[in-house]
Amino acid sequence: MSLASHGIQNTQVCEFIFKVEADSELSLRPGEIHVWRRQLGCDRTNIEALREVLSPDELARAARFHFASNRDEFIVSRGTLRTLLSRYLRQRASKLRFRYSQYGRPELWANGDTTALEFNVSHSGGVLVLAFANDRRIGIDVERVRSDFSTTEIAERFFSVAERAVLRELPVEQQHEAFFRCWTRKEAFIKALGEGLSHPLDQFDVSLAPGLPPALLGTRPDAEDARRWFLWDIAVSEGYVGALAAEVFRMMNFRSIDHPCDS
Ligand SMILES: CC(C)(COP(=O)(O)OP(=O)(O)OC[C@H]1O[C@@H](n2cnc3c(N)ncnc32)[C@H](O)[C@@H]1OP(=O)(O)O)[C@@H](O)C(=O)NCCC(=O)NCCS
Repeated sequence: MSLASHGIQNTQVCEFIFKVEADSELSLRPGEIHVWRRQLGCDRTNIEALREVLSPDELARAARFHFASNRDEFIVSRGTLRTLLSRYLRQRASKLRFRYSQYGRPELWANGDTTALEFNVSHSGGVLVLAFANDRRIGIDVERVRSDFSTTEIAERFFSVAERAVLRELPVEQQHEAFFRCWTRKEAFIKALGEGLSHPLDQFDVSLAPGLPPALLGTRPDAEDARRWFLWDIAVSEGYVGALAAEVFRMMNFRSIDHPCDS
């Protein structure tokens, strides 16, 4: 297991560095956020072991994937989520139950009530990231930086007026990466809200110019919302961008943890 810890107070500067450390007991102190990263490519034995902890509805979802590679990635992603949650909650992974919001966000469901443990998951290009916190909404997003579609078209369609203006002003060679930075910051925020793409993406502004710290700059119609959230970048891997959004808490601590590939 890889692990790095950071203490943060009243600042949005946080470098997530995933480092190696011995296995440790998992618990979340107040104000603490854990971010995990793992490769979705696993050998057959690990995939089959993770399949064992999935619920019948998750197995049915896995079976609906057309490509075996997508099916295996879903099993690893959901199986990893369950095994990590089981370590935080000290419950059997296969016994955990989820319910889904009207927007499809999974949350833990225990004895007819939701638990205080918050989590969010994102996967892209064979990489999985997971975030965990207590008593606070969080959202995470990772994207592999791709060049097989027109970022300009998507930005013009979905980004806010202010974001589009900043993007257009950037030198052309910086625009592609700025697009992905903007997109992941926006997705992390709407995932923390739990609304996913149902939340209008042009109703809030994030920073995106190179060198500027990640930030939620404006929210509409309630401008005060912007002050209730923090955004951070996550250095997932070369060729990927990642972002984390969390509700403001007076003290924040971070652990960024690399999940081994063989469990
Ligand atoms: C949530 C959403 C933004 C994810 O975007 P994405 O980049 O394709 O996917 P990511 O890998 O970042 O995240 C996927 C994970 O986010 C979580 N998730 C799903 N819906 C979510 C939501 N509304 N809010 C926060 N997290 C959500 C799940 O854990 C999911 O993992 P899974 O696919 O293994 O179940 C997008 O799919 C969306 O808006 N979906 C809403 C669809 C909807 O409204 N459905 C209603 C009927 S179910």
